[in-house]
Amino acid sequence: MTLFLIQTLRGRIVKSTATGYGTVAVTIHWLSAILILALLGSGFRASSFVDSAAKASVLSVHVPLGITILLLTLVRVAWWVFADSKPSHPTGDPAWQTMSAKAVHILFYVVIFGMAASGIGMMILSGAGSILFAGSDAPLPDFWDYLPRVPHGIGARVMIALLALHIGAALYHHFIKKDGLIWRMWFRQKTQRERS
Ligand code: HEM
Ligand code: HEM
Repeated sequence: MTLFLIQTLRGRIVKSTATGYGTVAVTIHWLSAILILALLGSGFRASSFVDSAAKASVLSVHVPLGITILLLTLVRVAWWVFADSKPSHPTGDPAWQTMSAKAVHILFYVVIFGMAASGIGMMILSGAGSILFAGSDAPLPDFWDYLPRVPHGIGARVMIALLALHIGAALYHHFIKKDGLIWRMWFRQKTQRERS
């Protein structure tokens, strides 16, 4: 396993370069994307149940995933602040597109932290943690009785809007501009110039 990992990573670009994201940033990006899709799915599923036991079984997955995306995003921010810097934006795009891309990227971080904070807020205020994780038999509370439920619901919808804009932009670059932008966010081998 270790040998496989070393061989896979050998010759890969760990840090980002001017033209593309490095292995660490790419790995965190796609792990986060999978986690966020799972969180949106499990969150809407949980809130669709009235039955406490059914809701609890979905939330017992949703909450740990939510804490995981919080920790992963903290690592992501630390990676950008202390270890790596982002590639320059693609040249030749109109200024409004560059500005919107920057805004959407920043808003993703804001919404992730907002969702995590409101989720944790709901758990603390309602005391549902002991029902989900400490074997209490009490029924779950109505989360709408607690204020953080409102921003949590709004944040989920903002996240979906950001995702639509973000995926729309990626598809536009891939299929209309055909500038290969998607490959900036994929695992690359070092080019001859980057090796030397
Ligand atoms: C919830 C899911 C997603 C989130 C939160 C997300 C977030 C981000 C963020 C914050 C960046 C900026 C780089 C960084 O800070 O690490 C980025 C870049 C990028 N994302 Fe996503 N992303 C998601 C899903 C996707 C999907 C599904 C695609 C493809 C269809 C995609 C394609 C890209 C590409 C191509 C870039 C690089 C853009 C550039 O070169 O400037 N992302 N994403
Ligand atoms: C990026 C992270 C997260 C995302 C994308 C997310 C997504 C969602 C979604 C889509 C819903 C349903 C919203 C609605 O129906 O209006 C939801 C509900 C909920 N989430 Fe999250 N969530 C995240 C983090 C968390 C965390 C960290 C916790 C707890 C520590 C949490 C606890 C809950 C609870 C208790 C509900 C209420 C379920 C109900 O009303 O029945 N979430 N979440």
